[in-house]
Amino acid sequence: MNDSITKTLAVAFSICLICSLVVSVAAVSLRDMQNENKANDKKIKILQAARIYDSNIDVKDQFEQLEVMYLDFNKGEVLKNDVLESFLLEHKNDYDQLSATRKEEYSTKLNTSEDIAIIKSRENVGKFFLLRNEDQTIDKVILPIRGYGLWGTLFGYISIEEDFNTIAGLEFYDHKETPGLGAEVDNPKWKSQWPGKKIFIDNDVSIEVIKGKVDPDDVNIAYKVDGLSGATLTSRGVTNMIKYWFSDSGYAKLFSELNYES
Ligand SMILES: Cc1cc2nc3c(=O)[nH]c(=O)nc-3n(C[C@H](O)[C@H](O)[C@H](O)COP(=O)(O)O)c2cc1C
Repeated sequence: MNDSITKTLAVAFSICLICSLVVSVAAVSLRDMQNENKANDKKIKILQAARIYDSNIDVKDQFEQLEVMYLDFNKGEVLKNDVLESFLLEHKNDYDQLSATRKEEYSTKLNTSEDIAIIKSRENVGKFFLLRNEDQTIDKVILPIRGYGLWGTLFGYISIEEDFNTIAGLEFYDHKETPGLGAEVDNPKWKSQWPGKKIFIDNDVSIEVIKGKVDPDDVNIAYKVDGLSGATLTSRGVTNMIKYWFSDSGYAKLFSELNYES
């Protein structure tokens, strides 16, 4: 009999099995493509932060203009020669993933007073990018930054000019903020305020996202960016992440080393 319970169950079971197989195969086979798209998107953000992105040119080709470098945060030294070689040999291409695990061997736990960006721990060695001029002097330094907003951690890149004080661009590639509120960090109009802003007054990180609009007559206009309206917590998160990443625990020591190089 075609309408027996056993047959009905067998047909339902077979359909479930086939569907789950189709979904699993699709998920597995698309995973590589998704990862590749994510990596590509990140590269675009890095190029955009450096203000050199051209949508008509292949991303991979454009990315080759950038020099990949590694900073030992604890020593404040850029990895070079033998040290760099053995670091790369030891970690091959998996250091990004390893450092993202925040395991003790790859990262340092931050104490509460230091952890103003609420990132809990900072990788021991960080990857960053240099854009050089034709004469090999430094044009821009592109640095990964991250910090807590309202709903989660915002991940992005900030690029600075060769004076190590002027911001060239700021881009976020991942965050959980609310569209129309905190997610306005992606709004091109808001982002367009960053190029030209200054970071340090003496050795203090003085740039901040204020509440409300910056007064055009403010003498400290170079250190202020308009707040994201209705998103004071995300705005504060952006200020705090810049304060942290340009502190001694972040990239501050890198600049004296790069200054020496150039
Ligand atoms: C559904 C919802 C989503 C929100 N998303 C954000 C957000 O992404 N970023 C943020 O700073 N504030 C967000 N807020 C507002 C905060 O709760 C808080 O009120 C706000 O940051 C205070 O900023 P204001 O003083 O500019 O209003 C959200 C509020 C609600 C109800």
